[in-house]
Amino acid sequence: MRRLVSETTLRPRQLILPMFVAEGADSPRPISSMPGVVQHTRDSLRKAAVEAVEAGVGGLMIFGVPSTRDATGSGGFDEHGILNVALRDLRAELGDSTVLMADTCLDEFTDHGHCGVLDAQGRVDNDATLQRYAEMALAQAEAGAHLLGPSGMMDGQVGVIRRALDDGGFVDTGIFAYSAKYASAFYGPFREAVDSQLKGDRKTYQQDPGNAREALREIELDVAEGADMVMVKPALAYLDVVRAAAEASPVPVGAYNISGEYAMVEAAAEKGWLDRERTVLEMLTSMRRAGADMILTYWAAEAATWLAD
Ligand code: PBG
Repeated sequence: MRRLVSETTLRPRQLILPMFVAEGADSPRPISSMPGVVQHTRDSLRKAAVEAVEAGVGGLMIFGVPSTRDATGSGGFDEHGILNVALRDLRAELGDSTVLMADTCLDEFTDHGHCGVLDAQGRVDNDATLQRYAEMALAQAEAGAHLLGPSGMMDGQVGVIRRALDDGGFVDTGIFAYSAKYASAFYGPFREAVDSQLKGDRKTYQQDPGNAREALREIELDVAEGADMVMVKPALAYLDVVRAAAEASPVPVGAYNISGEYAMVEAAAEKGWLDRERTVLEMLTSMRRAGADMILTYWAAEAATWLAD
């Protein structure tokens, strides 16, 4: 009877697996603050991607970890850059059997670790960054990404990327906008995952954790600029924002169950303080209950196997 009246569904197709691929890696490198998650080699990425798709996940979100970085993050728009090379590998391997997504942001590729290029005073230059995003978007679309995830929180990024894609003939490449992205302490382990060079913080472009109304404004702007889907990030400490976004958004809403949320549960489960599987499924269910249509989670492939019926 509980099954009959259960209000919230959690299905593999609603889960998206974020994956890291490192340039020049000859074996997968563990990420110490994210047990079970690795920086993949090109080869291990391909294999793990196939496994995740076979487990039934709805999509893959790929992040690149370059071996060299510069001030403009040129590895992000270079067709030989690790992320673009890996996208090409994956599209060749997987075709249209899953939704292949790419992180469209410079922070993994810049030597200062910011999501954009800097001006003479060392501040992130919003408008100069937009040009870089347009180039990066084109490189990722050319490499075979179905859906681009601009995650840099620059004003106007969705519109600029949409225009660049349309002008380049990539009218079918979609945009999954990280619309409401907060300046969060929970990104800590991700910084290790991508060997981030960031010294300061991202408070000049990411949102203040206390602001909910602003999230709706960000979503409205992104939708007007052409976002096909929007995202709230992080998820767990922002379920009220996910709920408000789900009620207001005319397009599907994603929630990103981020690195710090993953690390907390893994650490507690390792100590025997939490039941890992039950905790993970309860967290993911809470995001669906809050209204997320889909969830990006490092547990996607494993959770999909638990959910298989
Ligand atoms: C930026 C980006 C970040 C994450 C996804 N995209 C880092 C940041 O904004 O600091 C974080 C993901 C996570 O913590 O799991 N390219």
